[in-house]
Amino acid sequence: MEIKITKTACPKVKPDSSELGFGKIFTDHMFIMDYSREKGWYDARIVPFGPFEIHPASTVLHYGSEIFEGLKAYRREDGRVQMFRPIENIRRMNNSAERLCLPQIDEEMAMEILKTFVKCEEDWTPSAPGTSLYLRPFMYGNDETLGVHAVHNARFMIIASPVGSYYKEGINPVKIMIEDQDVRAVRGGTGYAKCGGNYAASNRAGERAEQKGYSQVLWLDGVERKYIEEVGAMNVMFKINGEVVTPALTGSILPGITRKSCIEVLKSEGYKVSERLLSIDELEAAMADGTLEEAWGCGTAAVVSPIGELSYKGEIFTVNEGKIGEVTQKLYDTLTGIQWGKIEDKFGWICPLD
Ligand code: PLP
Ligand code: COI
Repeated sequence: MEIKITKTACPKVKPDSSELGFGKIFTDHMFIMDYSREKGWYDARIVPFGPFEIHPASTVLHYGSEIFEGLKAYRREDGRVQMFRPIENIRRMNNSAERLCLPQIDEEMAMEILKTFVKCEEDWTPSAPGTSLYLRPFMYGNDETLGVHAVHNARFMIIASPVGSYYKEGINPVKIMIEDQDVRAVRGGTGYAKCGGNYAASNRAGERAEQKGYSQVLWLDGVERKYIEEVGAMNVMFKINGEVVTPALTGSILPGITRKSCIEVLKSEGYKVSERLLSIDELEAAMADGTLEEAWGCGTAAVVSPIGELSYKGEIFTVNEGKIGEVTQKLYDTLTGIQWGKIEDKFGWICPLD
C-alpha cells in the first residue's frame, strides 16, 4: 500500500524527559486513513499533527462508534527502537471493530502502517529510564447522517506521545477503591472491546475515587456485583496463599496484552496461575486473614503497578504493608527488561522497525 508522507515545516522542540507524564505531549505527525463501504480503506497518509475538521452529524459524535488501542515503542540502549507485541494490538483492534460494527484492517497492512508511522516519529522515542513512545491507534464511524446503523464510512488514525509513568506514584504502590455502585460492563455488552464508551461510563466512579484520594477504581461484575473484574486502565492480579489469581476473561473485561504476558512469564517460571472467578468475599477474607500476599495491576500505560491499599465499602485494607511485593517486582523487571531490550526476549515478543 502507498502511504503518502507530508512532513511538517515546523518540527517541535522535543521535551525534557522530566516533563513527560502521560499523554500530554504529541509528536510532529499523525497517520490518517479513510474507509467507505464502496472503496474499502483509501488515502493512507502521514500529515503534520494538528486539529482537523469533522462533520457535526458524524456518527462518532452522536452514537459513540469509536475504538482504540494503546501500545508502546521503546528505545534500547544501543539506540534502536522496538515495539512490544504489536500484532496482539492489531488483532484486539479487529475484535473491537467487529463488536462496534466498524471495518476490519488487514493485519499485514496494519503492521506496515504502524512500522512506517513509528519510523517517521522514531526521533521522538525518549531514552531516559522508564520512558517510551506511546502509540494510540483509533478508529471512528464517520457517516454524515443521524440514522442509527452499522457504519458505512470510517476513519483510522494513529497519534503518538512520548510518555513517562502513568501514575504519579511511578512504580510505588497505588491506592485503589473497589466500586460498589456503578458498573463498567456486562456480559454481552462491550466490556471486552477497547471502545471509548466503556471509559466514558467509568468516569463518574473514577472521579469519586479520585476525590477520596484513590488512583482508580476496581470494578465488580455488572450482574451480581460479586466478582472482581479489572481496574480503570489495567487488569488486576492477586497472589493469594502462594497462587497468582486473575479474573477469567468472561467477556466483560479487556483481554490485556500485559495480562497475557504476565501469565506467560509467571507460568514459564513455574508459578501457579489461575484465571478464574474471584469473588469480593474471597478477596475480603484473604485480606482479613493475611493470605493476600500481593496485588498489582498490569497494562500498557500502567506497566506493572503494585497495589498498596484497597478499600471496599469504607473499609481499608493494606496489602503487603503498602510495599511492592516480590512477584510484582519480578514481573516488572522481566517485562520492562524485554521491552527495553535489556534482557533476552525468549518469548519472541519484540518487533523491530525493519
Ligand atoms: N483494562 C483496561 C480497562 C484498560 O484500559 C487496559 C489498558 O489498555 C488494560 C486493561 C490493559 O490492557 P493492555 O495490557 O493490553 O494495555
Ligand atoms: C493503555 O494502557 O494503553 C490504555 O489504553 C489505558 C488508557 C485508558 C490510559
